[in-house]
Amino acid sequence: MISVRGARPARARLAALGAYAPERVVTNAELASRVDTSDEWIVTRTGIRERRFAAAGETAGDMAVAAAEAVLASAGVTASQIDMVIVPTGTPDAMFPSTAALVADRIGAHDAAAYDLSAACSGFVYGLAQAAALVEGGMARSVLVIGSEVLSRVTDQTDRGTCILFADGAGGALVTADEGGTATGFLGFDLGADGSGGDDLVLPASGDREAVPGGPVPASGCIRMDGPAVFRFATRIMVETTERLLAALGLGIGDIDLVVAHQANSRIIDHAAERLAIPRERIFNTLERYGNTSSASIPMALAEARDAGRLRAGDLLLLVGFGGGLTWGSTVVRYEPLGAEVPA
Ligand code: UT7
Repeated sequence: MISVRGARPARARLAALGAYAPERVVTNAELASRVDTSDEWIVTRTGIRERRFAAAGETAGDMAVAAAEAVLASAGVTASQIDMVIVPTGTPDAMFPSTAALVADRIGAHDAAAYDLSAACSGFVYGLAQAAALVEGGMARSVLVIGSEVLSRVTDQTDRGTCILFADGAGGALVTADEGGTATGFLGFDLGADGSGGDDLVLPASGDREAVPGGPVPASGCIRMDGPAVFRFATRIMVETTERLLAALGLGIGDIDLVVAHQANSRIIDHAAERLAIPRERIFNTLERYGNTSSASIPMALAEARDAGRLRAGDLLLLVGFGGGLTWGSTVVRYEPLGAEVPA
């Protein structure tokens, strides 16, 4: 892409959504046949009944391509119009080339710049923040943000503390410039990171301290998580970031049409709903059927909410991500789709 400074400032518009879920359904019963757990424990402690696993050889890049194509189809926008592809992921096909570069090529976004973004389960909201800033700074007019994960491949399937949670999928959004238009766009963001809690949720990578020169890449390392510590962080931060952002915007929870939080554990969302007095019907969850898909969970849920008729053009959304880093990110944005298929 080429950007000429001084372009007219524009509102960044949340213009389209799309998602992809791999076919293979893995039920709690299947996990209970492998590790010492039960459907009852998993449902009560997490809200998850089943999740999807990618097929052998299916990568985050493959799933991101499917989600990106769904986003473009929903917007009626062609790939040649895309200036930037951002792929938040913790499970890229490789450290380089970036998964985003592969996706841009495969969807035909040949003029796009592309990069991956590492912010774990907050990645999608971080990606939206970057997309909004790029558009409003006049740097780009159309940005695809596609969260995609193959967590099944980096989860120890014999560890009952993690294998019940993490799963695969992809979802994304298109952020476009609305120059001189009527879009309200992104009202604000609250992003943060606290690396002092980094050890609570770790997925080792090629630069691991244990790696030796010329030795094998420790990419076989699986996710290590102190579940209760992350749980405490998540319950606290989901409430704090929401309160902080709404106060900064001068809004109350009653102004929000739909809340979509990172799908980590239904108990985290229930806790926040109670503390923030969010009515049940204003929360949309997909945990039951997809588990925790990290950076993909919020856009997968958004696309599903739209398809289920729970998301309407003009709705004010509160999106909240939290996870490894430890990181968090929330935004309030109006959904202003370009496509014609969404009822107003
Ligand atoms: O996406 C990034 C953010 N990630 C999260 O937000 C995850 C946050 N953490 C969690 O969701 C929860 O901590 C878990 C679902 C991972 C675990 O639930 P918990 O209620 O925190 O359980 P716990 O780790 O405190 O363990 C309670 C008991 C233990 O047994 P004892 O020591 O009380 O006898 C565990 O060994 O439950 C046991 N346990 C299990 N039992 C059956 C732990 N995992 C399982 C299991 N099945 N899968």
